[in-house]
Amino acid sequence: MSLADVKYLPETPAHDAEIEAINDEAFGPGRFVLAAYKIRESGGHDRSMSYVAVKDDTVIASVRMTRVAAGAGRAMMLGPLAVRPAFKNLGIGRKLVTIALEAARKAGAPAVILVGDEPYYG
Ligand SMILES: CC(C)(COP(=O)(O)OP(=O)(O)OC[C@H]1O[C@@H](n2cnc3c(N)ncnc32)[C@H](O)[C@@H]1OP(=O)(O)O)[C@@H](O)C(=O)NCCC(=O)NCCS
Repeated sequence: MSLADVKYLPETPAHDAEIEAINDEAFGPGRFVLAAYKIRESGGHDRSMSYVAVKDDTVIASVRMTRVAAGAGRAMMLGPLAVRPAFKNLGIGRKLVTIALEAARKAGAPAVILVGDEPYYG
């Protein structure tokens, strides 16, 4: 597959069903009890910083950002990040994280936090 065929687009409501399917495939039905999901339940994610990777009009990966507060502090929380299995290890996850971080930086977010594997995100 050529990466030139992959488009990175801001997320819209039209992508919701496909993103749910990707997250279900990546994290399973138990995902809703994870700490990161519980935190995100308190408010919806911010579509202006959330992105999808699309190939042939099909969503193949997604990253979302949610505004979070801790005490007086404010930050964005990155995730979930998920890539469909057939498209892993092509750099799509890395690209989505880069785009989302850049959007957060431009929006003036003071920090981005996440719950995830340090070896990957590090
Ligand atoms: C983790 C995930 C998003 C990576 O997406 P991707 O597009 O395949 O990743 P990239 O192509 O950008 O990077 C691939 C590299 O990351 C490494 N990697 C992938 N998952 C990793 C993990 N959990 N820990 C450490 N390294 C990991 C790969 O081995 C590969 O290494 P290489 O470049 O040295 O070969 C994808 O595997 C996925 O959807 N996993 C299931 C959901 C998940 O765990 N999401 C993250 C937590 S929110």
